[in-house]
Amino acid sequence: MNKKTIVVVGASRGIGASLVKLLARNKENKVVALSRNAAEMQKQFQGIDNVDFFSFDLTNKVYEQATAVFSNLQKIDILINNAGYLVNKPFRQLTEEDLQKSYQVNVFGVIQTVQAAISKMEPIGGHIVNISSMGGFQGTVKFAGLTAYSTSKAALCSFTELFAEEHKDSNIKMNCLCLGAAQTEMLEEAFPGYQAPVSAEKMAEFIADFAEKGHQWINGKIIPISLSTP
Ligand SMILES: NC(=O)c1ccc[n+]([C@@H]2O[C@H](COP(=O)([O-])OP(=O)(O)OC[C@H]3O[C@@H](n4cnc5c(N)ncnc54)[C@H](OP(=O)(O)O)[C@@H]3O)[C@@H](O)[C@H]2O)c1
Repeated sequence: MNKKTIVVVGASRGIGASLVKLLARNKENKVVALSRNAAEMQKQFQGIDNVDFFSFDLTNKVYEQATAVFSNLQKIDILINNAGYLVNKPFRQLTEEDLQKSYQVNVFGVIQTVQAAISKMEPIGGHIVNISSMGGFQGTVKFAGLTAYSTSKAALCSFTELFAEEHKDSNIKMNCLCLGAAQTEMLEEAFPGYQAPVSAEKMAEFIADFAEKGHQWINGKIIPISLSTP
């Protein structure tokens, strides 16, 4: 049986919801969608029989929650860490809570989800895709107000390199995609009125394809996905 099990974290809206729907088009895939808002996932994925969804919160007992969800799965082939938390606030106004929450959702929660997932990727192997941001990619244009968000996304890039090094002799691969702007609720909430050149669905197309195939060629790479130059 070649059915792939694909876990998408941060699945109730935006790029994550599009990813789940796209990946579920292939009935050979079993897609597991994780987010806090189960009612929204129920709405989004109604009638798609190869999607299971579970309430999951990256701010609380992440390893325990992930282990409980993953214990129902025979294996995990692909894990997409897509959830993100963005606070847009001038540097001097950033609170400890802003910083803690940004790092908890964007970094610590991802690391603990991966710790819980990897035993389910053995011995077949798998691909872990971390969703970072162009703001966390060294040398790109930076935006005022994004210290908590972009530094945490940069840490996610660094985690990718470190994980890949430590697991280079295994068949579990990890890569990181640094997205440019895509039209989603997160973008609209952070930068009202800003028009992104790419829709959530279009961004999800690239991520889905990469998640399914990219690890055949690359591991531990941090890749900018943006129409901006350079
Ligand atoms: N849109 C862009 O322009 C852009 C650009 C660069 C990078 N990115 C990155 O791309 C990813 C997707 O972005 P998006 O624009 O689609 O964001 P979004 O519309 O805000 O969706 C984020 C998803 O993450 C989930 N999430 C947030 N906090 C969570 C938590 N504590 N625990 C579990 N899930 C949580 C949300 O679901 P619940 O609320 O149900 O938990 C939601 O499904 C993020 O990592 C973002 O940083 C986006």
